[in-house]
Amino acid sequence: MATQAKPRLDPETAYEVISPESYAHWDPLLDTFDRLREEAPVAWVEDPEGRHPPFWLVTRYDDVMRISKDNATFLNNPQTVVFSLTEGIEFAKNLTGGSPHMVASLVTFDAPIHMKYRKLTQEWFMPKNLRQIEDDVRELAHKTVDRLLEAGEGGLGEQESVDFCKLVSQPYPLHVVMQILGVPEEDEPRMLMLTQQMFGGQDEDLNQSGMKDLPPEAITQLVAGAVKDFEAYFAKLTAEKRANPTDDVASTIANATVDGEPLNDRDMMGYYIIVAAAGHDTTSASTAGAMLALAQDPEQWALVREDRSLLPGIVEEAIRWTSPVQHFMRTAAEDTEVGGQEIAEGDWLMINYVAANHDPAQFDNPRKFDASRSPNRHLAFGAGAHQCLGLHLARLEMRILFEALLDRIETVELAGKPARSKSTFVGGLKTLPLRFTPA
Ligand code: HEM
Repeated sequence: MATQAKPRLDPETAYEVISPESYAHWDPLLDTFDRLREEAPVAWVEDPEGRHPPFWLVTRYDDVMRISKDNATFLNNPQTVVFSLTEGIEFAKNLTGGSPHMVASLVTFDAPIHMKYRKLTQEWFMPKNLRQIEDDVRELAHKTVDRLLEAGEGGLGEQESVDFCKLVSQPYPLHVVMQILGVPEEDEPRMLMLTQQMFGGQDEDLNQSGMKDLPPEAITQLVAGAVKDFEAYFAKLTAEKRANPTDDVASTIANATVDGEPLNDRDMMGYYIIVAAAGHDTTSASTAGAMLALAQDPEQWALVREDRSLLPGIVEEAIRWTSPVQHFMRTAAEDTEVGGQEIAEGDWLMINYVAANHDPAQFDNPRKFDASRSPNRHLAFGAGAHQCLGLHLARLEMRILFEALLDRIETVELAGKPARSKSTFVGGLKTLPLRFTPA
């Protein structure tokens, strides 16, 4: 390949786009993405502190879409699919005997094995099958709203508020995903802690460590510990689901075969972990984002209470507007180009969904929450072979929860400053103080 100069980010911008802190304050970061889409839409990023491998940052919608759909040229398996510390990658390689992936799962597989594994549960996650769990999900939604109303009852004076994240948006998707995995309710706190350690490791409020400014080595250890604990838990669950299979996802995974063989332990654990972890923090973030948008716009709340046909538009826009999965990584299988920029075989690329979903070339006034946006072909669920397996479930969960909230809450308003988590990967609101009046 002819050698084209690399558009390198200056150290300050490089630091900004890889720092978890930046993802806690979106506006300046979105300004930077706007600038990069104009000046260097495919930019070479070197960590000024040298703690992460270098990579290409891709910020335009069209380029992110193209990479997502070209699964032969842009692979998931060769390097980590989440932006990781070099030290963390080495740690995983030592632990796994060579693989950079601490957990082997759908997102770390490429063709042909990826589709074989995906097919095992794909039917389960389709709308037709999900109709069977709608009533159970509705029951969970109403129980969650009960708790919100109880917390708001009596004690809510002028200055008081409830935290929507703690009471609703965090526990509810966890309940749903644990129910579909057949995990009993009493084990949910343990699962919550483990997923937060795996995904929230960069945020001191979410990683349960009680330590501020956790050093990167400690984060890596924390994630590895969470994976081990997950594995121990699911080994027990597998034995139970093999002895007494039901129609939940865990039974499907425990009893599945690929090419006539049962799944090996690492692949089976990876499957549980991806469903448990991917299905929970993501939906929490988009649910909290939808509530923030509505709490900031009381007229919209009143409107959708009267006309529920507006709800799917609100759900979809919330998913774009929040983009809870902020990036995934890919590795170039061969010399190629993206947006006119030469990419060499083996290069690591970050497809940044936050940047793509705020690309003005695709979305008018992208920072505005616009429930009437149509079409709304956002990339929050990705695209191509790895497109989110749980996207119908996520939409269903959000629709059913908001139906319950709209039925039972007359007005809602913001009662303080919301805060976002510090995380480069899955992120969103971690606190959302609200005041409301029950219907
Ligand atoms: C608003 C909520 C959600 C968002 C924003 C989201 C986003 C994503 C994204 C961006 C990907 C990668 C797509 C790609 O590489 O092209 C993904 C993959 C995946 N998601 Fe979701 N997700 C959500 C909810 C869920 C739920 C509820 C589940 C299941 C319970 C789930 C399970 C998965 C799985 C298993 C994959 C891997 C698919 C594969 O590699 O074939 N997700 N999701």
